[in-house]
Amino acid sequence: MSFCNLMETLVALFLLSLFGLSMAEIPNKIGVNYGMLGNNLPSPARSIELIQSMKFSRVKLYDANPEVLNLLSGTKLQASIMVQNHEISGIGSSQAIADEWVRNNVLLYYPDTIISFILVGNEVLSSTLDQDRELWRDLVPAMRRIRASLRAKGIRTIKVSTPLAMDVVESTFPPSSAKFRSDISESVMEPLLRFLNGTRSHFFVDVYPYFPWSGDPTNIDLDFALLQGNYTYTDPGSRLVYTNLLDQMLDSITFAMSKLGYEKIPLVIAETGWPNGGDLDQSGVNVHNAAIYNRNLIKKLTAKPPSGTPARPGVNIPTFIFSLYDEDQKTGPGSERHWGLLHPNGTSIYEIDLTGKRPISQYKSLPLPTNNEPCKGELWCVVAREANLTELRLAIEYACASGNGTCDALMPGGECQEPVSEYLRASYAFSSFWARFRSQGATCYFNGLAEQTTSNPSRGSCKVPSVTF
Ligand SMILES: *[C@@H]1O[C@H](CO)[C@@H](O)[C@H](O)[C@H]1NC(C)=O
Ligand SMILES: *[C@@H]1O[C@H](CO)[C@@H](O)[C@H](O)[C@H]1NC(C)=O
Ligand SMILES: *[C@@H]1O[C@H](CO)[C@@H](O)[C@H](O)[C@H]1NC(C)=O
Ligand SMILES: *[C@@H]1O[C@H](CO)[C@@H](O)[C@H](O)[C@H]1NC(C)=O
Ligand SMILES: *[C@@H]1O[C@H](CO)[C@@H](O)[C@H](O)[C@H]1NC(C)=O
Repeated sequence: MSFCNLMETLVALFLLSLFGLSMAEIPNKIGVNYGMLGNNLPSPARSIELIQSMKFSRVKLYDANPEVLNLLSGTKLQASIMVQNHEISGIGSSQAIADEWVRNNVLLYYPDTIISFILVGNEVLSSTLDQDRELWRDLVPAMRRIRASLRAKGIRTIKVSTPLAMDVVESTFPPSSAKFRSDISESVMEPLLRFLNGTRSHFFVDVYPYFPWSGDPTNIDLDFALLQGNYTYTDPGSRLVYTNLLDQMLDSITFAMSKLGYEKIPLVIAETGWPNGGDLDQSGVNVHNAAIYNRNLIKKLTAKPPSGTPARPGVNIPTFIFSLYDEDQKTGPGSERHWGLLHPNGTSIYEIDLTGKRPISQYKSLPLPTNNEPCKGELWCVVAREANLTELRLAIEYACASGNGTCDALMPGGECQEPVSEYLRASYAFSSFWARFRSQGATCYFNGLAEQTTSNPSRGSCKVPSVTF
């Protein structure tokens, strides 16, 4: 038990005797990501009430939203705020710009609003586009300048870091063999780790066991990804024994850091969670698995003493669950819009208990998992709802502009030429596009105009292409 934990326990016992509080009411160190990519979300004021009522102690933002930072003033919630990717290069090249950022986004609110981390950028090293590679170069200089601005104002309690995705390591399996990608190891990771170590900051990492599992569900045990079951894996290099995929992923970061000579930098889980829903062609995305994952996660995080990971047993890992809400304006496969703990109307999608104390038997029973097996059969990509015709026509144009015969059947003389309805034309274009380009990552989404279905939309001679699983 570390000194901090001991103090926490003593304070807790003191409060317990003073107010007769139950252990369950002692605040945890679990935070939540407050993403706002939805057009139907509760107001920031209501959102903060919800975060408090769920008993989160930390909240992570994807910007430095002034309304939210004002509303957090006087609350006990600890905020982590973010410099957005497009702001990095300016800040990296000019101390005056860094000072201005800190003035506008920190000094206006701090210390009435508790700010514990300034995160510079989000998953900056995941994009390999040329224009984004400039950010790689500017990342650590921008972090140094933000810290210098804070120091100049006498602020020592706010740490500076940057959340990275698991793709910074070449492989997570076995964990002891992990090393940082060769294109970033020397140029970015070494200076970044030197900065984090030298400033006693933390390595923020987004860790989703869902992604490796969904990429290889036949070889990875679902329970291993959901932090349960009795499957174990022994790392042949380290001889460490793993009981879950989350620990394996976290330790791969620890091993990669050690290879560059940094053994001790503490980790923060900047994002983790499990999707509560998604498209028909996605398996394992359901309320059952999401609830189980987060329950097991919270149980692990609130264990006393902390469980840590095999490479770092007993260590506390501050964690931000992703995400507060289902966000309907995120692009990509359906699961992207279903990471929430709450519906957009603020009601819970499933029960969670951040104390980790409640026995599983006390929960209302969960719906059975519906799609843990891979999808089998035929799917079409059709018009999702009473769509706006203008938007639908633009979406058809987009699908057809991909060429390669995607819309031949809609052309004069084609099998789906007028007088079929605009909806059937759109469903044809969406399905045909999806069937052709799915293997290259195309999704059935079209800004929410499209969705997958098992029922064949074909009419008469207009045969709509499908994808067979
Ligand atoms: C990391 O920081 C510690 C404490 O300041 C220091 O002793 C150590 O030498 C640093 N490690 C590296 C590799 O710079
Ligand atoms: C693991 O659990 C399953 C089901 O709970 C059980 O059938 C199996 O015997 C267990 N295996 C081991 C090695 O304990
Ligand atoms: C909130 O939204 C969910 C999902 O759309 C719905 O099932 C539920 O009935 C709604 N609850 C209220 C109180 O509006
Ligand atoms: C349909 O969408 C267009 C483009 O987004 C918009 O200008 C128009 O107001 C919408 N019409 C209706 C009825 O919603
Ligand atoms: C279109 O089809 C041609 C010939 O089959 C192929 O070479 C090309 O890669 C396709 N284009 C796309 C974007 O798939």
